[in-house]
Amino acid sequence: MDSIIHLSLSLLLLLHSLILFPNPSSSSSSSHDFSIIDFDSVFHHDYSPPSPPPPPPRPPSVSCEDDLNGIGTLDTTCQIVSDLNLTGDVYIQGKGNFIILPFRSVTCLSFGCEISINITGNFSLGENATVLAGTFELEAYNASFGNGSAVNVTGLGGSPPAQTSGTPQGVDGAGGGHGGRGACCLTDKEKLPDDVWGGDPYSWSTLQKPWSYGSKGGTTSKEVDYGGGGGGRIRFWIRNYVEVNGGLLADGGDGGDRGGGGSGGSIFIKAAKM
Ligand SMILES: *[C@@H]1O[C@H](CO)[C@@H](O)[C@H](O)[C@H]1NC(C)=O
Ligand SMILES: *[C@@H]1O[C@H](CO)[C@@H](O)[C@H](O)[C@H]1NC(C)=O
Ligand SMILES: *[C@@H]1O[C@H](CO)[C@@H](O)[C@H](O)[C@H]1NC(C)=O
Ligand SMILES: *[C@@H]1O[C@H](CO)[C@@H](O)[C@H](O)[C@H]1NC(C)=O
Ligand SMILES: *[C@@H]1O[C@H](CO)[C@@H](O)[C@H](O)[C@H]1NC(C)=O
Ligand SMILES: *[C@@H]1O[C@H](CO)[C@@H](O)[C@H](O)[C@H]1NC(C)=O
Ligand SMILES: *[C@@H]1O[C@H](CO)[C@@H](O)[C@H](O)[C@H]1NC(C)=O
Repeated sequence: MDSIIHLSLSLLLLLHSLILFPNPSSSSSSSHDFSIIDFDSVFHHDYSPPSPPPPPPRPPSVSCEDDLNGIGTLDTTCQIVSDLNLTGDVYIQGKGNFIILPFRSVTCLSFGCEISINITGNFSLGENATVLAGTFELEAYNASFGNGSAVNVTGLGGSPPAQTSGTPQGVDGAGGGHGGRGACCLTDKEKLPDDVWGGDPYSWSTLQKPWSYGSKGGTTSKEVDYGGGGGGRIRFWIRNYVEVNGGLLADGGDGGDRGGGGSGGSIFIKAAKM
């Protein structure tokens, strides 16, 4: 049974949007100049999706040495020198640099766990170092991602937007939905394919700034949820220069032989130079 269903359409859509609109701020203003009809009056009242809730206020920053087991301070340079296993969301803010040394890992393995880094200085993820979490958000002056490094939010997404589920009903093991419907997995010959679609589609609240989790795949069991997890979210706002020699991964999780795959998450990169 071919039940490993990855919905990569959403990521394709995203790549498309990055290619078409490499600079989201300028494209959103220029798209207005070129439109031949007034989209606001046509679509605004009936069709625009509900605006997302305002983000919750940021918690206070963690500290480099006490909370992250690092060396230095966030207002000078904080270096992560040993593997770090976080148990919940962290907000890392300071006026300095944040450096994860080669071969180290920073992980937070709960679904939707957020690692947010907002620093005035530079960020570096060393060679073969990894970050595993549900959300990885970075604001910095320069950022570099070394050879063999990875920011991997595969299958660790939190809940998709409130107005949708994305996860298919029933126990057919179908795929999660996101930018398109999840794939179906027809096991019951009595049913029509149209009755066993995968998960609901939903979209980013703006295509230029994708920021939604993927959704879980379906299961084939009434007792155990075998569905692969939805993909997580990666966002960079780099004021000067970002260099990526490693991987940025936001795929849906694998459901194995008994579950549908999750749908992919979101990757959004904004930088003056890439
Ligand atoms: C990290 O913590 C989680 C949950 O506390 C635990 O399940 C996991 O084994 C730990 N991983 C490592 C590499 O220590
Ligand atoms: C980063 O911190 C600055 C203030 O130092 C704030 O203005 C900005 O909104 C923060 N960015 C994020 C993504 O939290
Ligand atoms: C970040 O890198 C730039 C360019 O190398 C450098 O000018 C700047 O001082 C660095 N920032 C900090 C806080 O060290
Ligand atoms: C910051 O970017 C400048 C080029 O814009 C580069 O010369 C410098 O090495 C970078 N610094 C870091 C720490 O990546
Ligand atoms: C990264 O890999 C490239 C291509 O394999 C190589 O040319 C480059 O020297 C490597 N950089 C470092 C810092 O190892
Ligand atoms: C580091 O990553 C590179 C590129 O993915 C890989 O070729 C190399 O084997 C890795 N080194 C180690 C020691 O894992
Ligand atoms: C990314 O994470 C997924 C799920 O944990 C894992 O299967 C995959 O091997 C990881 N990929 C890399 C390149 O680390």
